[in-house]
Amino acid sequence: MSQVLQIKSSIFDNREHQGISSQLGDEVLARLTQNGESRVQVRDFSTDPVPYFDHDWLQALSTAAEQRSEEQRRKVAYSDQLIAEVQQADVLVIGVPMYNFTVPAMLKSWTDHIARAGVTFRYTESGSVGLLDNKQVVLVLSTGGKHDEGVSDFMRPYLRTILGFLGLKNVSIVLADGLNMGEEARAQGLLRARRQIENLAIAKTEQTGEAA
Ligand SMILES: Cc1cc2nc3c(=O)[nH]c(=O)nc-3n(C[C@H](O)[C@H](O)[C@H](O)COP(=O)(O)O)c2cc1C
Repeated sequence: MSQVLQIKSSIFDNREHQGISSQLGDEVLARLTQNGESRVQVRDFSTDPVPYFDHDWLQALSTAAEQRSEEQRRKVAYSDQLIAEVQQADVLVIGVPMYNFTVPAMLKSWTDHIARAGVTFRYTESGSVGLLDNKQVVLVLSTGGKHDEGVSDFMRPYLRTILGFLGLKNVSIVLADGLNMGEEARAQGLLRARRQIENLAIAKTEQTGEAA
């Protein structure tokens, strides 16, 4: 059985409507898990906000375990939990809307928590090595406008860089763009994204039903 971690980073929760990146993420999940049993864990930042990784957090991690205060233990346990969720997953489905040309602030905070030297990456004489390998990652991106990567889209370069840094190189992208450019453009953007979802490769673990 494969383990899937779904991240929803849209600020829209289910009160008015769910974020489109979250909705499409649900569709990706349905597609990826159609051939076998999977355990799915969902982390929805709209209902479970990710705190900034600040100086107190850094100090908590730098303090020896037996000398940590109660508050420091709580902080370390929180970051440890985020890391464990990623380590245990075979597949990551990450919904990412574009906010002000880049990823939502809470998604950046999440990466600040999970990038930990000696645990999810390490430095060597020839450069850094990511320690989170052997996972399929599907990024589900949504944008109001249309953006060329590297010009006004700081999401894709950032996400590829940080995920690659952590060892996550098997990354597919589903992109719904032009969503705020009128009805026709929105419909086209959603259609393109849904075609990309249909064409997603299903992870080997799901095809065989074997645990990774
Ligand atoms: C605070 C905020 C900032 C946004 N900034 C951008 C932007 O810089 N470029 C863009 O194309 N769309 C921008 N949008 C539009 C969103 O990317 C678009 O509505 C997307 O579908 C939102 O996804 P969601 O529903 O999953 O949150 C912004 C939307 C919000 C709420």
